[in-house]
Order: sequence, then C-alpha cells, then structure tokens
Amino acid sequence: MKLVILDGTAGQSAANQCIGQVASQEGATITHFALADLMLAPCLGDFECWTKTPGRCRSQDEAQDIAQAIHDADLLIFLTPLVFGGYSSALKRAVDRLIPLIDSFFHQRAGLTRHLPRYAKYPALLCIALSEQPNAETQSIFAELAGGNAINLLAPSYRSLVVSLRDGRWPEAVTAAVRASLRRAPGEALPVPAADALALACAADPFDPRRSRPPRTASILIGSARPKGQSTSESLARGLAAGLERAGVKTSLVRAISFVKDGHRADKALATLLGGELLVIAAPLYVDALPSLATHALERLGEQLGSQPHQVKSVVGIINCGFPEAVHNRTALRILRAFAQASGLNWGGGLAMGAGEILHGKPLSAARFVMRAQSRALALAARDLAAGRGISPEASQQMARPLLPAFLFRWVAPFKWILQARSYGVSWTKLHERPLDETVSITYSEIAGFRRAK
Ligand SMILES: Cc1cc2nc3c(=O)[nH]c(=O)nc-3n(C[C@H](O)[C@H](O)[C@H](O)COP(=O)(O)O)c2cc1C
Repeated sequence: MKLVILDGTAGQSAANQCIGQVASQEGATITHFALADLMLAPCLGDFECWTKTPGRCRSQDEAQDIAQAIHDADLLIFLTPLVFGGYSSALKRAVDRLIPLIDSFFHQRAGLTRHLPRYAKYPALLCIALSEQPNAETQSIFAELAGGNAINLLAPSYRSLVVSLRDGRWPEAVTAAVRASLRRAPGEALPVPAADALALACAADPFDPRRSRPPRTASILIGSARPKGQSTSESLARGLAAGLERAGVKTSLVRAISFVKDGHRADKALATLLGGELLVIAAPLYVDALPSLATHALERLGEQLGSQPHQVKSVVGIINCGFPEAVHNRTALRILRAFAQASGLNWGGGLAMGAGEILHGKPLSAARFVMRAQSRALALAARDLAAGRGISPEASQQMARPLLPAFLFRWVAPFKWILQARSYGVSWTKLHERPLDETVSITYSEIAGFRRAK
C-alpha cells in the first residue's frame, strides 16, 4: 500500500506522527510532501498541461514529483489547517497543479459535467483539516470540498475529517480515519448538490445596520492568474466596476498575481483591498474552490482584518467555472461567506457563472448576444451594492443562467482543446497521452468503455 501525504500545515508534526504510526502498523509506505517548504509555482491557468504537453505541467518543480507519486499511490491524504472551511494556500497550490492527471475531454459523472480520466487507476482520498475552532458551517464546507475533489480527481473512495485541536481525542479520530482508508473500508457517499444549493450559497446575509451605509469605495480582487486582459474574472470584474463607477462608487482593481510572493507588491495590493468599503472577490473556480493565489490573499486579508484599521464593511464574490453548470461554484462562495463571517464583515452574497471559457477576457459587450442575462446580473448587482444592500436573488439567478445546454457543451468544448493543441503543433491524437505510465497512450476504446461503464 502506497500512501502520499500533501501536507499543507506548517509543521503539524503531531498529526504527521499520528498518520506515520498507523501507516507503519498497516505496512504502508509513505511519501510526504511538506508543502510549506516547497515554494511550488501556482497554476497559471493556461491549460498547456492539456494541450501543449498533454499530461504534464510545464512548470519544472516538485509538483512533477507530486504528480508521479500520486499516480503511483493507493491512498492520497490532504492535510491542512481549516481555512474558512477550505484548504490552506500551501495545499491549494499543490492541488491546483494536479489537473494534468485528468483528461481534458468531458462526460457526465455524479450528475454534472466532469473531465474524463487520463489514467486507468487513481488513489482513494482522505482529507483531514485541523482547526482550533471548527463550527458546523466550516465543517460542512470542508466535507463538500473533499467530496467535490474526490469526484473531480476520480478517487475510487473518499472520506473527510475536521478535527478540533482543543479536543484531546483528535489523534484517535485521525488514527481511525487513516486506518479505515488504508484498509479500503467503504468511504462516504459522493455529495450531490441539493436543488437550492447554489441559491443558498449566493444569498446575502442580513446586513449589520452599523455597516450598511452605501459604500463610496470598492476594491476588486481579480483571482485569476491569467495575464492582464485575458481572464473571465477580469471581464466580470470590469463589468461590475463599470456599474459601480456609474453609481458613484470609486472602484480599484487588484490582481491576485500580486500575492505570488510576500513582499512589497503583495503589501501594496493588500493595502488597496483593505482601503475599499466594499470588497469583491472575482475569481475562477480551481478544483472546486478558489485558486491558490486568491486563497493566499484571503489568508493575508484575514490576518489584517483582525488586527489593523481598515475600511472594509462588506464582501461579495463573483465566481466563474469551466463546466457549464454554475452550481459547481457553490463551495467557493461558501468559503467566501465563511471568510466574511470570520472577519466580522457583512456577506453581500454572490454571483456564479458556468462555461466561463466563453468569455476569456473579452469585454461583456463583445459577447452581448450570449451573455445578455449575465450583463443584466452585473448591472443589478452594481445597483444593489451601490445602494448598500446585498446582491439580490434576481441578479444571482440571471448570472447562473446556462450559456448553453450541458450536453451541447460536452460535445463542442473539446474542439477548443483540439484547436489550442494544433496551435502548439500537437496532434489531437496526443491529447490523451499518459506520460506517467510506462505505456504511453490511451485508446479510444478505453475511453468509450469508461463512458459505457458509467
Ligand atoms: C487548475 C484548474 C482547475 C480548475 N478546476 C475547475 C473545477 O473544479 N470546476 C470547473 O468547472 N472549472 C474548473 N476550472 C476551469 C476554470 O474555472 C475556467 O477555465 C474559468 O473560466 C477560468 O476563469 P479565468 O479566465 O477567470 O481564469 C479549472 C481550471 C484550472 C486551470
């Protein structure tokens, strides 16, 4: 039994020791990656790992070894402090870099659009979060995130566990979870979003009257790592900013790439974000949650909001994802709400959009025909926010309207990868290569067989 630990805690030796003891009792071998020491590059969101070097990330660092170790493993453990219900940015950096392990083409699995597997076998998943003060909501967010990752990373089974470090019995809970996973005991049922899951994740909380006067300033964090002018997050951010400016709210934009390293640039970006009365996080969905750079920005903001003077009164989120169903974005919005609540800010609600690649940096006006509902959503949201209210359910509904039927998306979207591959001189027949196997390519009958089996 081969076990890989992606350790996003900064030296939680007690938890590691505990996992190590069970693993050796069960005769498993451990490969441990202490992510805080590794300085991995963040995913840049260019999908070259699917189209230019299929199955491999172009950034040459330890993420290459991590991918190979996971490919060879039977059990994968994510170990993290609980950060607003999600993973630490150190773990998220590694998780965002795992997409070369899956195929770029689509099918329907667990009720929604997903990617096909690239390999014949994937490890089971165990997600463990350590927290001083978990509450029911952050525990539920973590369970949902772990379940979403299990589906998207093709884990044959999964379980998740949030342990309270104040409860002296936490090592027993960790021991039991690791043992059950190593013994291949049946895991948790895969999460299926309830019909109202997205509406609930988008809904604003009632505002604290002390913090509900109309904002004069707003700051928007563009959470995509893509270059300036090339991300859907930026297109949506600019659409909202235009509406806010028209309503007299002075709006500044900050790009998440500023948070790639701690230092002067990150401090300046942080100061801008702390200087707006309204804080907007406009980000893509990466592996069911916010990308690592946006997660790191939230970690830094969380520290500052608790200890420094600032202007921020309310937080809202605009999340777009690649799959056509906007409901995939629900967990990222719940993480943002947990961040707002932990920081004592109003949660002003969220907007979620599917099939985000359709926009890819174009201004909304250039895609007016397909994005009428989304343009209206941004105008309504700007009106609500400028008036000192949360985003209305109508705006959230308009943003989540499907841009095209999911079955059509699954059929048409692979042509984007084929064209992108062609621009790199890569034949479409190479897109399903398995560079981490000894055998190199996947046959179409295997893909068809997998489709039939599901
Ligand atoms: C590392 C990575 C992980 C992703 N994970 C998901 C996912 O879990 N679900 C999804 O629907 N889309 C996922 N996407 C697709 C992005 O959300 C989508 O391409 C989005 O439109 C990019 O927005 P941007 O232009 O603002 O960066 C992922 C993309 C990348 C690069």
